[in-house]
Amino acid sequence: MATRATALRPEPALAGDAGARRLESEGLVRLPVSASAPVPPFVLQGDEAALLSLDSASLRAKSASYDGHAVRGLAANASGETARTIEVLLSRFGAWAREAVLAVAPGYGEALTRGRSSLRLRDAAEAPLSPLKDDRRLHVDAFASQPTGGRRILRVFSNINPSGEPRLWRTGEAFEDHARRFLPRVRWPLPGEARLLRALRITRSRRTPYDALMLGLHDAAKTDAVYQRHATGTDLAFAAGESWIVFTDSVVHAALKGRFALEQTFYLPVAAMAEPERAPLRVLERLAGRPLA
Ligand code: SIN
Ligand code: FE
Repeated sequence: MATRATALRPEPALAGDAGARRLESEGLVRLPVSASAPVPPFVLQGDEAALLSLDSASLRAKSASYDGHAVRGLAANASGETARTIEVLLSRFGAWAREAVLAVAPGYGEALTRGRSSLRLRDAAEAPLSPLKDDRRLHVDAFASQPTGGRRILRVFSNINPSGEPRLWRTGEAFEDHARRFLPRVRWPLPGEARLLRALRITRSRRTPYDALMLGLHDAAKTDAVYQRHATGTDLAFAAGESWIVFTDSVVHAALKGRFALEQTFYLPVAAMAEPERAPLRVLERLAGRPLA
């Protein structure tokens, strides 16, 4: 029996590691759209399709989000039934998204924790209220109120556009180049700043120096008009029905156009990566010459 177990074990482990290495080095993996794929594409069911005719007036924010407890971002006049349909849809999408990630990187297993999910009804091409919220500008993701403490931000997107419109993205330079470009302009947190932000409940947990620098990179890139105008990048079109997995904390990205998408955020400890030295935490620590989280 022992012989059989050892004979069987290596292969899936190797396959899993290869997927994680690919995801970590490329940063973005498109999922197969074939119905016979190991994880078949995500499709809307029953009442869910009706959500796509909600007008943007039904939303307070640029998307409706779900954190496992409540749906947020809906306007006050949105019905309870709408909120429930969104809750069911986003719960289902989250479970599907976990399967999709684990099919690529089974080794992440239990280390992968679920964050918020969102239903994005507005066109990504619409101008937002502030440049910092403008995801049409190249950036890496960092959350002002939710520090990751060094954990990776891994997101799964699905284009659920009902009229066949693609979702258009652009990706930019490698993370290390991006960090070298903007880090000199980023302000380091002051002593006591993290404690104050936490006490004032501006952050949900302590903002580590890593989180402060990542937020600094995000803001510096988005507010640099010259960089945004001249940066070279790769244009990507995600077809209706297509899904993709992205480390949005290391892939420099912009969402240019497209309505109707689902998104699920996961967090992954650096230690669970196949190649932890690729983590933005490790890259920034090398550049800064000191531990950051
Ligand atoms: C973003 O993370 O910048 C937005 C991605 C999208 O909505 O497609
Ligand atoms: Fe982003």
